[in-house]
Amino acid sequence: MTVAANDRSNSATIVAKVLEGDDLDALLSDANPAVRETCYGTLRRLPSLRAHVAQFLNKPLRPGDADIEAILLVGAYQLCCMSEPDYAVVNDCVNAATRRGKPWAKGLINAVLRKCAGSTLEQDERSFDHSKWLLAAIKTNYPDDWRDVAQANNSRAPMWLRVNGLRGSNADYRAALDAAGIGHSAGEFPESIRLDSSVPALRLPGFSDGLVSIQDHGAQAVARAVADAIVQSGKTDSDDGAIRILDACAAPGGKAFHLHELLNQQPLCTSESHVSALELSPERMTHMRGQAKRLGHEAGLIWLTGDATGQGWHQGDAFDWILCDAPCSGTGTLRRHPDIKVRRRRADVTRSAQLQGALLDNLWRLLKPGATLVYCTCSLLREENDAVIKSFLKRLNRHGNEDASADSQPAAGAGLAAEVLPIKLAWGRATKLGWQTLPGEQGGDGFYVAAIRRGT
Ligand SMILES: C[S@@+](CC[C@H](N)C(=O)[O-])C[C@H]1O[C@@H](n2cnc3c(N)ncnc32)[C@H](O)[C@@H]1O
Repeated sequence: MTVAANDRSNSATIVAKVLEGDDLDALLSDANPAVRETCYGTLRRLPSLRAHVAQFLNKPLRPGDADIEAILLVGAYQLCCMSEPDYAVVNDCVNAATRRGKPWAKGLINAVLRKCAGSTLEQDERSFDHSKWLLAAIKTNYPDDWRDVAQANNSRAPMWLRVNGLRGSNADYRAALDAAGIGHSAGEFPESIRLDSSVPALRLPGFSDGLVSIQDHGAQAVARAVADAIVQSGKTDSDDGAIRILDACAAPGGKAFHLHELLNQQPLCTSESHVSALELSPERMTHMRGQAKRLGHEAGLIWLTGDATGQGWHQGDAFDWILCDAPCSGTGTLRRHPDIKVRRRRADVTRSAQLQGALLDNLWRLLKPGATLVYCTCSLLREENDAVIKSFLKRLNRHGNEDASADSQPAAGAGLAAEVLPIKLAWGRATKLGWQTLPGEQGGDGFYVAAIRRGT
């Protein structure tokens, strides 16, 4: 990998912004591979790097010198983990201090990074490169295999593709990858392909023509399981035989598009069947529709911008299936989003769980009798998974048994029997109320899924 002089300074700027709370993906949108590798790696190993650098500092840096800390962390990562030449790394990092108007830090950076050169970065055994609350939560949730989970979170995720079955076959696409010299292997599903190493989207054959999408294997397992359950149930109460599906938290559209692709290859889907894609954020909706256009799906889905905890967007039809891929801590995706380890706070999980409950309460009203609500997250934490389903079922139950004087707010649609269905993904493990995959299993991210059928 070629690392240019500016790359080190730019990486340090990005790492400093993430440490202030900014989103890594947004900051990396125009970044080259060297900057991406440096930022991902530095954030993945942050506690270990901080401990490593600290041993060479005479005194801690002042809070106002977070930019200098970021230069040291980036330099240490490149020296210890990227085998970049000592002279170039030290020199560029020293110059980066001048660019920030802090020439006083040149000597310090030079001294610390010279000591880092040739040293080995040890794993910080107290943190496993996680924040304190997050490691504690992982230990509580996975008492027997928390080390494996933490190590997997610190690994690199492979790049997965999903072939658009409405535009071509997997065999043809793999032949196109061969012709382009892009190494790959088969995934678990007929549409999934694992690349040997990451490739920019526009270098993928036919990407602009919608032949393929980039989507994690675990994420593919979710829509696969939902599509399989829809096909198995095979029937609908609609007069026209249509199956109406709502993806209630749809952007950037991965699961909605996957469902659309799978179901439109099924004879049971009539021309009236469709996926409605609901999204709160207008910007994310615009991006999603752009992707739909690329894939040739724009006319095939119904687009709804609105809040899934309310019904202002609802056009009146009840749904046969609702997928609620709820906003969550993202703790199943730390390999791809190492900044989550830095930015996420304990209180965010509690807030997410409240929103997730509100989404379920509202969406439950929009199901036809006998229809199914599938809840999923990319969280590893019970608090956002089984516990959300458990509380939701409790609210339904409470309303069914309550007397008129009860002061609690009943869940919408309450009083109707709810049955937890045994939905499962292609790998992973059963939880009390759903199914959980862990990061790294089958090369995928960690996902949770549960399915609840409404009584008739
Ligand atoms: C986990 S992401 C969904 C990922 C998507 N299903 C996919 O597979 O590509 C959650 C999405 O829900 C959206 N969202 C958050 N709150 C929402 C709400 N109240 N109503 C609808 N969408 C919401 C977010 O903007 C985000 O795009």
